[in-house]
Amino acid sequence: MSCLFESIMLADVKIKNRFVHAATHEAMAADDGSITDDIVRRYTRLAKGDVGLIIPGHLYVHPLGRAHNRQSGIHTDAMIPGLKKLADAVHAHGGTIGFQLAHGGRQSPRRILGQAPLAPSSRGRDPVSLNKPVSMDEHQILESIEAFAAAAKRAHQAGADAVQIHAAHGYLINEFLSPYFNHRKDSWGGSEAGRFRFLEAIVTRVQKAVPDGVPVLVKLNTNDFTPRNGITPDLAATYAKWLVELGVAAIEVSCGTYYGFQTIRGDIPGAELVRALPAWMRPVARLKMKMQGPANRFKEAYNLDAALTIRPVMKGVPLILVGGMRRLSQMEKTVSRGVADMISMSRPFIREPSLVRRFSEGKATEAACISCNRCFAAMFNTIPVRCYQKGRPQNG
Ligand SMILES: Cc1cc2nc3c(=O)[nH]c(=O)nc-3n(C[C@H](O)[C@H](O)[C@H](O)COP(=O)(O)O)c2cc1C
Repeated sequence: MSCLFESIMLADVKIKNRFVHAATHEAMAADDGSITDDIVRRYTRLAKGDVGLIIPGHLYVHPLGRAHNRQSGIHTDAMIPGLKKLADAVHAHGGTIGFQLAHGGRQSPRRILGQAPLAPSSRGRDPVSLNKPVSMDEHQILESIEAFAAAAKRAHQAGADAVQIHAAHGYLINEFLSPYFNHRKDSWGGSEAGRFRFLEAIVTRVQKAVPDGVPVLVKLNTNDFTPRNGITPDLAATYAKWLVELGVAAIEVSCGTYYGFQTIRGDIPGAELVRALPAWMRPVARLKMKMQGPANRFKEAYNLDAALTIRPVMKGVPLILVGGMRRLSQMEKTVSRGVADMISMSRPFIREPSLVRRFSEGKATEAACISCNRCFAAMFNTIPVRCYQKGRPQNG
């Protein structure tokens, strides 16, 4: 039997195989952030398809952390019934579900928040919204940490098997970790340990908010690809070492911020993407995307080198690898050689919710996804996520 179909323990929770559905914002929530039947159907399909651990799209923990319209929230107790319905549906089909807790930081646009976005520092503007953030004061920092803890408690009440703290992709926690975004001179910045303090406080509070044995995972950027000074694999290894010392149950290794498309390498459907922007921004945005093309070309397993840098500090804590995992043989090699313990995918599951089952039944040896990124462009336009690859219907 392939090592990919062996179970694995994350803290006290048994995951039936090594496949993770990487968090994927669906653009399907109700206006108030609650879970809709469309979202429940999406994850029911994935549970039926035998995905070991399902992580739905990032859930905002605080109204000022909302990054998109039609994003699901976990910011109030009113969200719990919908989240419970989602967890129950996954469980009913033998699946395991982890909720990703997130705060958009300076990438949450003013048009959604009704005010300037929050960030560790006010320097610069977000490259997509062009909004200028405000620097968080001590009270706002502590309030955000508590929002993560309250969200973790709600996740557990709703029946989640695990929680994942979103510390990647340029959102608030990533911003605190990154010397590019964090210019603070107080104890929340100034050094690697200072920049780590926000995540450290969140991990510690989240661990206390859920019972012992509930896995607390972190999705970590290993490469920010910001114009300068961002997180590199070496800095990420330092952070990973500290996370392991804090007792996190697993680390998912990712990369990229709103400065580029490295998170989702592949084609850049410029015409579709710019439609989401005000008309005056489109020509420049289109040009910027064209220039991004070569640096964002698809490459299989594009976070593998970063995973190799981080692996030695993991001390047996599972490493989850995401980003361009497409061929079964590559996944098997990655796990059997001990580079990663679990394989995480987003876009392949949009196209083929039953991909894991197809692998196990010998009906597929690689994902059909061609990383055209039309799913991402749809999400960016607040159109529900599904496979919009031209001329190819979605596989069941
Ligand atoms: C439409 C879309 C939505 C995404 N939403 C999230 C999200 O909510 N949280 C997150 O951590 N990553 C998100 N991602 C990134 C994926 O989790 C994953 O890291 C990335 O797509 C690379 O994996 P892949 O090559 O298997 O698609 C999203 C990606 C796509 C395409």
